[in-house]
Order: sequence, then C-alpha cells, then structure tokens
Amino acid sequence: MFSTTWLAFALLASQGFAAQPNAAEPLEAPLRDLKFGQVNFLHTTDTHGWHAGHLLEPSFSADWGDYVDFADRLREKLEGEGRDLLLIDTGDRVEGNGLYDASDPKGLFTFDIFREQHMDIICSGNHELYKKNSSDNEYLITAPAYADSYVSSNIDIVDPTTGEVVPLAPRYKKFTTKKQGVRIMAFGFLYNFNRNDNNTIVQRVEQTIKEEWFQQAIRDREVDLFVVIGHAAVRSEEFDMIFRAIRSVQWDTPIQFFGGHYHIRDYRKFDRKSYGLASGRFMETIGFQSIDGLSSKSSAKASPTFFRRYIDNNLYSLYHHSDQNASTFHSARGQNITKAIEEARNALDLDETFGCAQRDLWMNRAKYPSKNSIFSWLEEQVFPGIVNDTHRGDRPRLVISNTGAIRFDIFKGPFTKDSTFIVCPFTSGFHYLKDVPYNQAKKLLPLLNSGGEIFETFDPSLAVWKMSPPDQLGIPEDIVVLEERMSEHLFNHEQTPISESTDRPLIPGYTTVDDTGDDGDDTVHSPISFYRVPNCIQSVINPGNVDLEDEVVDVVFNEFIQPWVLLGLKFLGLDYSDEDVDKYMPDDTMTTIIAKWVSMNWADNC
Ligand SMILES: *[C@@H]1O[C@H](CO)[C@@H](O)[C@H](O)[C@H]1NC(C)=O
Ligand SMILES: *[C@@H]1O[C@H](CO)[C@@H](O)[C@H](O)[C@H]1NC(C)=O
Ligand SMILES: *[C@@H]1O[C@H](CO)[C@@H](O)[C@H](O)[C@H]1NC(C)=O
Ligand SMILES: *[C@@H]1O[C@H](CO)[C@@H](O)[C@H](O)[C@H]1NC(C)=O
Ligand SMILES: *[C@@H]1O[C@H](CO)[C@@H](O)[C@H](O)[C@H]1NC(C)=O
Repeated sequence: MFSTTWLAFALLASQGFAAQPNAAEPLEAPLRDLKFGQVNFLHTTDTHGWHAGHLLEPSFSADWGDYVDFADRLREKLEGEGRDLLLIDTGDRVEGNGLYDASDPKGLFTFDIFREQHMDIICSGNHELYKKNSSDNEYLITAPAYADSYVSSNIDIVDPTTGEVVPLAPRYKKFTTKKQGVRIMAFGFLYNFNRNDNNTIVQRVEQTIKEEWFQQAIRDREVDLFVVIGHAAVRSEEFDMIFRAIRSVQWDTPIQFFGGHYHIRDYRKFDRKSYGLASGRFMETIGFQSIDGLSSKSSAKASPTFFRRYIDNNLYSLYHHSDQNASTFHSARGQNITKAIEEARNALDLDETFGCAQRDLWMNRAKYPSKNSIFSWLEEQVFPGIVNDTHRGDRPRLVISNTGAIRFDIFKGPFTKDSTFIVCPFTSGFHYLKDVPYNQAKKLLPLLNSGGEIFETFDPSLAVWKMSPPDQLGIPEDIVVLEERMSEHLFNHEQTPISESTDRPLIPGYTTVDDTGDDGDDTVHSPISFYRVPNCIQSVINPGNVDLEDEVVDVVFNEFIQPWVLLGLKFLGLDYSDEDVDKYMPDDTMTTIIAKWVSMNWADNC
C-alpha cells in the first residue's frame, strides 16, 4: 500500500517538471494572453545550438523537449476549436552553444534533437553555410528530415556525392491548412550573404525574384495568404524587394513575413495586410503570430487582422498559453527529448567547471567601461594576464579585439566548458605585426572605433559595425533617448490591463517596442538598459613600464579584424600587408585563452 502510494507520488513528481534537471525554475510573473486566429504560427530563429535552454536564466529555461510539448498541446487545443497551428524556423540553428560546438564532428547530437519538432516551413541561415561540413549536413540531414517543409528560394549546393549544383531544397511550397482550408504560398529566403564556403551558391534576392518560377508563383490567384520566411531582418532591403514584387501583382492578398538574423524581437507593418515578425535569438523567444479574417477555399474575402506576441521560453509561460499545468503538459515524447539533451550534455561534459565568476559580466547591460562590463574585464584582466607569446618574450604590445568576438554574457557562478562556447563560439585566433612604432600604433584603436566612413569609402565590405555584436544593431545610436523611452514605457505598462494582478516587483527583461506598440512581450517586465559598446577594445601591455613614445610595439589582434587593422595602419602611413602578419600564440584562440585565464584565476572561487 505504502509503496504504491509512494510510487504514484514519485511518478507524478518526475512528470511534474521537465526542462534540464539543473535549469533555473521559472518565476511567476504577470502575463499577457495570446489571441488566437484562424491561422496561428509559432516561430523560432537563431537558436544557435541553445536547444537545452538557458540553464542559468529562469526566463528562458525551457528546452527543446518542452517546446515540442508546447506545440503539441497548443495544436490539440487549437485544432479542437477548428483552428490551424503552423511551425516556422528561420535558420542559424548551428554554432554558438556547446551542445552543437563541443562534439566532434560538430552537431553530432543537435540534428537528431532538433528534428523531433514538427516544422511546417523551415529555411537556412547564414551560419549553416560558412563551412562545407555544415551545409552538407543541411543537405544530407535537415532538408531530408523536413522533405515537405524545407524551402530554399535562393540557395544551391554542390551535391557532395555527384558534384552537381542543385537546389538545397524546393524553391517554394504551396499547401492548404488542415482545419481552415487556407491556401498558402510559402517562400524561404536568405539575405544577400557572401561569406559562404564555395560549395554553396547564394543567389542575390533581386535576381531570384526575377526568375520565372517566382514570377509565376506570385501570380497564382488560388492563394489566400503568402508566407515569406527568411533569414533576414524584417527591416531589410531583401524583404522590401520581395514585398514590392508580390504587391505589384497581388494588390490585396495578405502577406506574412517571418525573419531573424539581427537577434532582436521586432514586428513590422508593411501595409494594412502585411506584417513581419522577428523572434529574437538563442531559444529565448518563441514568436507567436495569428491571423484572423482570411479568405479560404470555401469562404469569401474578409478583412484580415494580425496579432503578435513574444513568448519568454519558460515553463510558466508555456503552461499558461497552452491551458495546461505541470501534470498535464508533458508527454513521454517531450520528456524523452529532454532526456536526450541531458545525455548529450553529459557525454560532452558541458558542465565541467573551470572556475566561478563572482559577479555578472555584461556585454550590453553594463556601461563600458565599468566593473560589470565583460569588455572591461577582458581589457583590464584577461588580456594582460594571458596574451603572451613565448617567442616575443616581454616586448610591449597592444592587444586589440573586436567586441563582436564576444557573443554572450557571463553570469555569476560556475564558468563551464559550455560557457566557453557560449561566450565565444568563434574559432579565430590571434595574429600580430611586429615592431610597429607606438606613436602611430596608438592611433589605430580610435580609428577603428570612429573612423567608420573612411573604411567604408575605401572598401564597402569593410563596414565597421561588422566588428561589433549583431544584437547591437537593434540598439539606437543615442542611448539617452533609449533610456527616456524605456521609462515612458514602464509608465505605460502600469496602465495596461494584464491578466493577473501584481504586487511583487516585476522581473527585468524584454520590453519590446515595435510597429504596433509596446505590448508584444508575453511577460510584463521591468526594462533593462542596454548600452552601446565600441567596435574594438584594447589592452596596452607594457611589462617593463618603459616610456613607449619612441618605442616599437607588437600589434596583436584577432584574426577576424585583420582587413580593418591593415587598412587602418595604411591610413596612418604604415604600409603593411598580409605577408607581414604572423600568428601569435598559434595554439590558442580567444575561446581557449578565456578558458585558461578562468582556470588560473577563478578556480578558487567555487
Ligand atoms: C566534417 O564531417 C566529417 C564527416 O561527418 C567528420 O569526420 C569531420 O570531423 C567533420 N569536420 C569538422 C571540422 O567537424
Ligand atoms: C572550392 O575551393 C577549394 C579550395 O579553395 C577548391 O579545391 C574547390 O575546387 C572549390 N570548389 C568549387 C566547387 O569551386
Ligand atoms: C492540472 O489540471 C488538471 C485538469 O484541468 C487538474 O485535474 C489538476 O488538478 C491540475 N493539477 C495541478 C497540479 O494543478
Ligand atoms: C525516445 O528516444 C529514443 C531514442 O533517443 C527512441 O528510440 C524512442 O522511440 C523514443 N521514445 C519516445 C516515446 O518518443
Ligand atoms: C610571458 O611568458 C614568459 C615565458 O613563458 C614569462 O617569462 C613572462 O613572465 C610572461 N609575461 C607575462 C606578462 O605574463
């Protein structure tokens, strides 16, 4: 008797919570509800291997298994009401988290985990195409797993077995929704990306939209809704061109865009019947879009209404929006995926701890320079402590890094093997120029940070913002304006009716402002201030404390910014070329030096 009761309890308890076992529990917070329509969408983008969720952040702690359950529970509910639910992913599924990057070959576990989620329309990002290996994986694993839903309007690939150039996947997809009979024409684009390996061909969007197949597809009259998904910002020239092309031949048919790439939450109104949703990054956000008032096979044209919401990816939100609770939400299938993620993390030893951070270090959430800025930490502690090539001894040196080399914040607590890939997933190492006169070399950093126009005039591909983190593109130039807007924002929130009353303080988080207002986030948060950071940072390492004015120094920089460094020095009257550059600490990368510094300096904090 006792044992049966105990067993039932144990089963209930073990079913009562999924997410990763060591993930932070979600916090209760006031939520704004979803508004369902005839056709409803869930959208992910730029997940970058974060399929285990964010273990240290309660707001984003649900994993891919939970997302599978969320989609299934929501689909059951909506289909029960005669509505449709469609799932979208707009690429950059790879690179940026240990779950993908730590295996050999990379992605050993993530492809099988990802494909457990049903998708209705899916496309490639730019990150799938940097390396031959990853685009081959797209072609050989992901595209076949989504044979009915992978769409590739402007990417071709060299088939690795036949050597033939073929479309990565079908150019478009036309289908009719299950419940409402809405006829959808779908496209899947990549922005005009050109740093792919030579086994793929990305056709420029302005070319693709002139092609016969596209011109025919957009003239199809038996279409109730165009769905254009793409790995591109919703406010991009590429989406503008596609919008104009469709509107020029169908003045009235609704168009829904889904985009990404900038890692921001955003919603753009193209016209009365066309909207575009961008759903953030790193499994923080599940974008929700619904459309009502569409015509369909069996009903006449009406006036469509559009609704968007950005869902914080945690179980508290997911239970709420699907009308479930801890005992009804999870399925054996979802828990199985959660378990597969846990096992992969264990096999990759992602929780191996190098040391412990004693405070949070932020990319954009702290001013630069400051005690909590990750860039001040690199400049003042990490580089001086570890950037040292034995062949160059104690020569004075300038160590320059672009801020885009850092991808994510460091949280107070364990710094693990996983953290190294999260904070810096890039594989580029350090290069250097020797014996550069300090008098000129010292002018390089200011030039990299404020000489934007001269670089771009000389070579349009050397836009200086490319050296800073992509997320920064969403932060207005003038931070003061941003802070004012945010306090106005908080004030508005207090006047907005919400689904639950709140007497506890709001949790800081996303407070998005987009084309339809400031009520898009599902969770009512207090605002976080974001600060812009420079393109590059620098440490001056001068072991002998000599007067550098008439000295020469080594200029050490990360590989990625070499074209800017050489051009910058040219403007300063120093004529160096790629041949003058050598590797510095050839066995290390930014990722390994951070891990080593943490082991040497933070091990005792744990
Ligand atoms: C590329 O893929 C092959 C075959 O899957 C694998 O053996 C190799 O290690 C991969 N290379 C990298 C750099 O991941
Ligand atoms: C791609 O580049 C590699 C090395 O640079 C070369 O060997 C190969 O033939 C090129 N492939 C194509 C399809 O151009
Ligand atoms: C969960 O929901 C079910 C069905 O509505 C209900 O019977 C059950 O008591 C709820 N469980 C909890 C823990 O709230
Ligand atoms: C659980 O996952 C394993 C492989 O990881 C698979 O063989 C099995 O069918 C899955 N079970 C369920 C219920 O999905
Ligand atoms: C750099 O490395 C050399 C040799 O390992 C060592 O003698 C020197 O003290 C180091 N300098 C710094 C500043 O760490």
